[in-house]
Amino acid sequence: MKLGILISGRGSNMAALIDAVGRGAIPSAEVAVVISDKADAAGLGSARASDVEAVVVERRGRTREEHDAEIIEVLRKRGVEYVCLAGYMRLLSKDFISAFKDRIINIHPSLLPSFPGLDAQRQALGHGVKVTGCTVHFVDEDLDAGPIILQRVVEVRDDDTAKTLSARILEQEHAAYVEAVRLVATGRLRIEGRRTILLEKTAAGEGNA
Ligand code: GRF
Repeated sequence: MKLGILISGRGSNMAALIDAVGRGAIPSAEVAVVISDKADAAGLGSARASDVEAVVVERRGRTREEHDAEIIEVLRKRGVEYVCLAGYMRLLSKDFISAFKDRIINIHPSLLPSFPGLDAQRQALGHGVKVTGCTVHFVDEDLDAGPIILQRVVEVRDDDTAKTLSARILEQEHAAYVEAVRLVATGRLRIEGRRTILLEKTAAGEGNA
């Protein structure tokens, strides 16, 4: 399964996926390309250091549709089947979502549907919740709203700041993203409406409806 990863910045989730693929933790997966909409994204360097092709596709005043069309072309040329968003800070156009229907995955640093959008960790602190966490989900046309693949819970401590809480969530994000992509790559998930159903493991380690 060929993966494309979209980033805008640091790329630590991207690095976790590349590392997992490299050590065989996501069977039969290959990271075909990393694409950033920002030329100065730190993740570009770490992708290249891991020998993964890293491409910059800046928006440069174009419409979302035009920008996305170029990204889709880069992905298709490399035979990408699944797209992982890893800190990609742009909304995707309808065209993008239908080009990769049910094959785009995102990670978000809260227990969705709580605290979608920006600054999820700060939103959680501001609301005073006692637990938050992260969510890996398929992407549909609404923001942070598609069918959930898995979630991990992180306790909020009384002395947490956005920084300390984000750091503990991030640790869980890396593990959760790898686990979610592994489930997808091994055919263990079926989407039923808003839900994803975990299929039994066969002897071959693949999903069985
Ligand atoms: C992560 O917290 C992720 O959940 C959110 O953006 C952040 C990206 O961090 N979507 P990184 O670039 O993967 O380090």
